[in-house]
Amino acid sequence: MRIDVVTLFPALFEGPMTESMLWKARDRKLLDLRFVQIRDFTTDRHHTADDTPYGGGGGMIMKPQPVVDAVESALQDAAHGTPVILMTPQGRVFSHQIATELAQHEHIVLVCGRYEGIDDRVRQLVITDEISIGDYVLTGGELAAMVVIDAVIRHIPGVLGAEGAADRDSHADGILEGPHYTRPQVYRGLSVPQVLQQGNHAEIEHWRRAEGLRRTWHNRPDLLLKAPLSEAERYLLAEFAEEDALRRLD
Ligand code: ADE
Repeated sequence: MRIDVVTLFPALFEGPMTESMLWKARDRKLLDLRFVQIRDFTTDRHHTADDTPYGGGGGMIMKPQPVVDAVESALQDAAHGTPVILMTPQGRVFSHQIATELAQHEHIVLVCGRYEGIDDRVRQLVITDEISIGDYVLTGGELAAMVVIDAVIRHIPGVLGAEGAADRDSHADGILEGPHYTRPQVYRGLSVPQVLQQGNHAEIEHWRRAEGLRRTWHNRPDLLLKAPLSEAERYLLAEFAEEDALRRLD
Protein backbone atom coordinates (compact mmCIF):
# COMPACT_ATOMS: atom_id res chain seq x y z
CA MET A 1 0.00 0.00 0.00
CA ARG A 2 1.16 3.53 -0.74
CA ILE A 3 0.34 6.47 1.54
CA ASP A 4 1.29 10.03 0.63
CA VAL A 5 1.17 12.58 3.44
CA VAL A 6 0.83 16.20 2.31
CA THR A 7 2.17 18.38 5.12
CA LEU A 8 4.18 21.43 6.13
CA PHE A 9 5.89 19.39 8.87
CA PRO A 10 7.17 16.01 7.62
CA ALA A 11 9.75 15.93 10.45
CA LEU A 12 6.92 15.40 12.96
CA PHE A 13 6.53 11.89 11.54
CA GLU A 14 10.14 10.88 12.02
CA GLY A 15 9.83 9.16 15.41
CA PRO A 16 6.51 7.33 15.16
CA MET A 17 6.91 6.32 11.53
CA THR A 18 10.41 4.86 11.93
CA GLU A 19 9.86 2.54 14.91
CA SER A 20 8.11 -0.72 15.66
CA MET A 21 5.26 -1.92 13.41
CA LEU A 22 5.36 1.07 11.10
CA TRP A 23 9.02 0.54 10.42
CA LYS A 24 8.54 -3.21 9.88
CA ALA A 25 5.77 -2.53 7.37
CA ARG A 26 8.00 -0.09 5.48
CA ASP A 27 11.06 -2.34 5.71
CA ARG A 28 9.10 -5.30 4.32
CA LYS A 29 7.84 -3.08 1.47
CA LEU A 30 4.24 -3.59 2.58
CA LEU A 31 3.93 0.17 3.12
CA ASP A 32 5.36 2.80 0.80
CA LEU A 33 5.06 5.95 2.95
CA ARG A 34 5.93 9.24 1.25
CA PHE A 35 5.86 12.84 2.36
CA VAL A 36 5.03 15.80 0.15
CA GLN A 37 6.28 19.09 1.59
CA ILE A 38 3.69 21.77 0.84
CA ARG A 39 6.31 24.51 1.09
CA ASP A 40 8.11 23.07 -1.95
CA PHE A 41 5.10 24.17 -4.01
CA THR A 42 5.04 27.81 -2.90
CA THR A 43 5.98 30.33 -5.58
CA ASP A 44 7.27 33.37 -3.68
CA ARG A 45 10.74 34.09 -2.41
CA HIS A 46 9.73 33.57 1.24
CA HIS A 47 7.95 30.26 0.58
CA THR A 48 4.73 31.56 2.11
CA ALA A 49 2.13 28.85 2.66
CA ASP A 50 -0.47 30.88 4.60
CA ASP A 51 -2.29 34.20 4.47
CA THR A 52 -4.85 36.26 6.43
CA PRO A 53 -8.52 35.26 6.23
CA TYR A 54 -11.00 37.01 3.95
CA GLY A 55 -13.71 38.60 6.09
CA GLY A 56 -11.36 39.17 9.02
CA GLY A 57 -11.04 37.16 12.19
CA GLY A 58 -7.93 35.80 13.82
CA GLY A 59 -5.39 33.29 12.66
CA MET A 60 -3.94 32.37 9.32
CA ILE A 61 -5.35 30.26 6.52
CA MET A 62 -3.34 27.89 4.33
CA LYS A 63 -3.21 29.18 0.76
CA PRO A 64 -4.95 26.99 -1.82
CA GLN A 65 -2.34 26.85 -4.59
CA PRO A 66 0.60 25.20 -2.74
CA VAL A 67 -1.71 22.59 -1.18
CA VAL A 68 -3.52 21.78 -4.44
CA ASP A 69 -0.21 21.52 -6.33
CA ALA A 70 1.24 19.29 -3.59
CA VAL A 71 -1.81 17.00 -3.74
CA GLU A 72 -1.65 16.86 -7.53
CA SER A 73 1.99 15.88 -7.39
CA ALA A 74 1.09 13.03 -4.99
CA LEU A 75 -1.61 11.96 -7.46
CA GLN A 76 0.68 11.76 -10.51
CA ASP A 77 0.12 8.26 -11.93
CA ALA A 78 -2.53 7.55 -9.22
CA ALA A 79 -5.43 5.27 -10.10
CA HIS A 80 -8.83 6.88 -10.62
CA GLY A 81 -10.69 6.91 -7.29
CA THR A 82 -7.60 7.25 -5.05
CA PRO A 83 -8.96 8.76 -1.81
CA VAL A 84 -7.64 12.22 -0.96
CA ILE A 85 -8.47 12.70 2.71
CA LEU A 86 -8.36 15.96 4.60
CA MET A 87 -7.58 15.56 8.30
CA THR A 88 -9.97 17.96 10.01
CA PRO A 89 -12.10 18.12 13.18
CA GLN A 90 -15.02 18.72 10.81
CA GLY A 91 -14.72 15.30 9.14
CA ARG A 92 -16.54 12.02 9.81
CA VAL A 93 -15.23 10.39 12.96
CA PHE A 94 -12.53 7.77 12.38
CA SER A 95 -13.31 4.18 13.36
CA HIS A 96 -12.18 0.57 13.00
CA GLN A 97 -14.54 0.25 10.05
CA ILE A 98 -13.07 3.25 8.22
CA ALA A 99 -9.55 1.87 8.87
CA THR A 100 -10.46 -1.46 7.22
CA GLU A 101 -12.12 0.36 4.30
CA LEU A 102 -9.04 2.52 3.68
CA ALA A 103 -6.75 -0.52 3.86
CA GLN A 104 -8.51 -1.93 0.77
CA HIS A 105 -7.02 0.86 -1.36
CA GLU A 106 -3.66 0.53 -3.10
CA HIS A 107 -2.97 4.21 -2.52
CA ILE A 108 -4.37 6.97 -0.30
CA VAL A 109 -3.38 10.61 0.19
CA LEU A 110 -3.67 12.31 3.60
CA VAL A 111 -3.71 16.10 3.69
CA CYS A 112 -2.71 17.80 6.96
CA GLY A 113 -4.03 21.26 7.75
CA ARG A 114 -2.35 23.73 10.11
CA TYR A 115 -3.20 27.19 11.44
CA GLU A 116 -6.90 28.10 11.48
CA GLY A 117 -7.60 25.91 8.48
CA ILE A 118 -7.21 25.48 4.74
CA ASP A 119 -8.76 27.67 2.05
CA ASP A 120 -12.02 25.86 1.26
CA ARG A 121 -11.25 25.66 -2.44
CA VAL A 122 -8.74 22.90 -1.64
CA ARG A 123 -11.65 20.86 -0.33
CA GLN A 124 -13.80 21.72 -3.32
CA LEU A 125 -11.08 20.90 -5.88
CA VAL A 126 -9.13 17.87 -4.66
CA ILE A 127 -10.50 16.42 -1.41
CA THR A 128 -12.68 13.30 -1.64
CA ASP A 129 -13.16 12.56 2.08
CA GLU A 130 -12.70 14.33 5.44
CA ILE A 131 -11.72 12.50 8.62
CA SER A 132 -11.62 13.61 12.25
CA ILE A 133 -10.00 11.48 14.98
CA GLY A 134 -12.34 12.82 17.66
CA ASP A 135 -14.30 15.77 18.93
CA TYR A 136 -11.38 17.96 19.97
CA VAL A 137 -9.09 20.29 18.06
CA LEU A 138 -5.41 19.54 17.47
CA THR A 139 -2.93 22.16 16.34
CA GLY A 140 -2.61 20.38 13.02
CA GLY A 141 -3.64 17.30 11.09
CA GLU A 142 -0.26 15.55 11.43
CA LEU A 143 -0.99 13.65 14.67
CA ALA A 144 -4.38 12.67 13.26
CA ALA A 145 -2.70 11.39 10.07
CA MET A 146 -0.31 9.29 12.20
CA VAL A 147 -3.27 7.77 14.02
CA VAL A 148 -4.95 6.90 10.72
CA ILE A 149 -1.76 5.43 9.23
CA ASP A 150 -1.13 3.29 12.32
CA ALA A 151 -4.70 1.96 12.40
CA VAL A 152 -4.83 1.33 8.63
CA ILE A 153 -1.56 -0.58 8.25
CA ARG A 154 -2.68 -3.13 10.86
CA HIS A 155 -5.10 -4.35 8.17
CA ILE A 156 -2.52 -4.85 5.43
CA PRO A 157 -1.93 -8.61 5.13
CA GLY A 158 1.49 -9.56 6.52
CA VAL A 159 1.98 -6.48 8.71
CA LEU A 160 0.89 -8.10 11.98
CA GLY A 161 2.63 -11.28 13.11
CA ALA A 162 -0.32 -13.65 13.43
CA GLU A 163 -2.40 -13.60 10.24
CA GLY A 164 -5.80 -12.06 10.94
CA ALA A 165 -4.85 -10.72 14.36
CA ALA A 166 -6.56 -7.40 13.58
CA ASP A 167 -9.86 -9.33 13.37
CA ARG A 168 -9.60 -9.95 17.11
CA ASP A 169 -8.91 -6.33 18.05
CA SER A 170 -11.32 -4.35 20.17
CA HIS A 171 -14.03 -2.91 17.88
CA ALA A 172 -13.47 -5.54 15.17
CA ASP A 173 -16.81 -7.18 15.94
CA GLY A 174 -18.48 -4.24 17.60
CA ILE A 175 -17.39 -4.94 21.19
CA LEU A 176 -14.21 -4.49 23.22
CA GLU A 177 -11.57 -7.15 23.82
CA GLY A 178 -11.40 -8.90 27.17
CA PRO A 179 -8.35 -8.81 29.50
CA HIS A 180 -4.97 -10.39 28.70
CA TYR A 181 -2.44 -12.03 31.03
CA THR A 182 1.11 -13.34 30.86
CA ARG A 183 3.51 -14.83 33.43
CA PRO A 184 3.84 -14.85 36.43
CA GLN A 185 0.77 -16.84 37.42
CA VAL A 186 0.39 -14.75 40.60
CA TYR A 187 1.47 -11.11 40.78
CA ARG A 188 1.03 -9.09 43.98
CA GLY A 189 -1.59 -11.54 45.11
CA LEU A 190 -3.59 -11.38 41.87
CA SER A 191 -3.97 -14.68 39.96
CA VAL A 192 -4.42 -15.35 36.28
CA PRO A 193 -8.02 -16.62 35.85
CA GLN A 194 -8.24 -20.42 36.08
CA VAL A 195 -9.90 -20.85 32.70
CA LEU A 196 -6.85 -19.38 30.90
CA GLN A 197 -4.51 -21.77 32.69
CA GLN A 198 -6.44 -24.90 31.76
CA GLY A 199 -6.05 -24.86 27.97
CA ASN A 200 -9.65 -25.69 26.97
CA HIS A 201 -9.87 -23.55 23.82
CA ALA A 202 -13.66 -23.53 23.54
CA GLU A 203 -13.99 -22.43 27.16
CA ILE A 204 -11.26 -19.83 26.74
CA GLU A 205 -13.01 -18.36 23.67
CA HIS A 206 -16.30 -18.27 25.57
CA TRP A 207 -14.67 -16.59 28.58
CA ARG A 208 -12.92 -14.01 26.39
CA ARG A 209 -16.13 -13.07 24.65
CA ALA A 210 -17.98 -12.78 27.97
CA GLU A 211 -15.23 -10.61 29.51
CA GLY A 212 -15.19 -8.47 26.36
CA LEU A 213 -18.91 -7.98 26.77
CA ARG A 214 -18.46 -7.11 30.44
CA ARG A 215 -15.87 -4.46 29.53
CA THR A 216 -18.10 -3.06 26.85
CA TRP A 217 -21.02 -2.94 29.26
CA HIS A 218 -18.96 -0.96 31.80
CA ASN A 219 -16.83 1.26 29.56
CA ARG A 220 -18.70 1.67 26.29
CA PRO A 221 -22.37 0.72 26.68
CA ASP A 222 -23.14 2.84 23.59
CA LEU A 223 -21.46 0.14 21.44
CA LEU A 224 -23.97 -2.46 22.57
CA LEU A 225 -26.79 -0.75 20.73
CA LYS A 226 -25.23 -1.74 17.41
CA ALA A 227 -23.23 -4.91 18.27
CA PRO A 228 -24.54 -8.18 16.79
CA LEU A 229 -25.25 -10.25 19.93
CA SER A 230 -26.62 -13.76 20.43
CA GLU A 231 -29.50 -14.59 22.73
CA ALA A 232 -27.02 -15.96 25.31
CA GLU A 233 -25.00 -12.77 25.16
CA ARG A 234 -28.07 -10.63 25.74
CA TYR A 235 -28.77 -12.79 28.75
CA LEU A 236 -25.22 -12.13 30.01
CA LEU A 237 -25.80 -8.39 29.67
CA ALA A 238 -28.91 -8.70 31.79
CA GLU A 239 -26.75 -10.46 34.40
CA PHE A 240 -24.21 -7.62 34.36
CA ALA A 241 -27.02 -5.14 34.86
CA GLU A 242 -28.31 -7.19 37.78
CA GLU A 243 -24.80 -7.36 39.32
CA ASP A 244 -24.54 -3.57 39.05
CA ALA A 245 -27.94 -3.10 40.67
CA LEU A 246 -27.00 -5.42 43.54
CA ARG A 247 -23.68 -3.61 44.02
CA ARG A 248 -25.52 -0.33 44.33
CA LEU A 249 -27.64 -1.81 47.10
CA ASP A 250 -24.55 -2.84 49.13
N1 ADE B 1 -6.93 18.60 12.87
C1 ADE B 1 -7.18 19.30 13.99
N2 ADE B 1 -7.96 18.62 14.84
C2 ADE B 1 -8.22 17.42 14.23
C3 ADE B 1 -8.98 16.28 14.58
N3 ADE B 1 -9.65 16.19 15.74
N4 ADE B 1 -9.03 15.25 13.73
C4 ADE B 1 -8.37 15.33 12.54
N5 ADE B 1 -7.65 16.37 12.15
C5 ADE B 1 -7.56 17.40 12.98
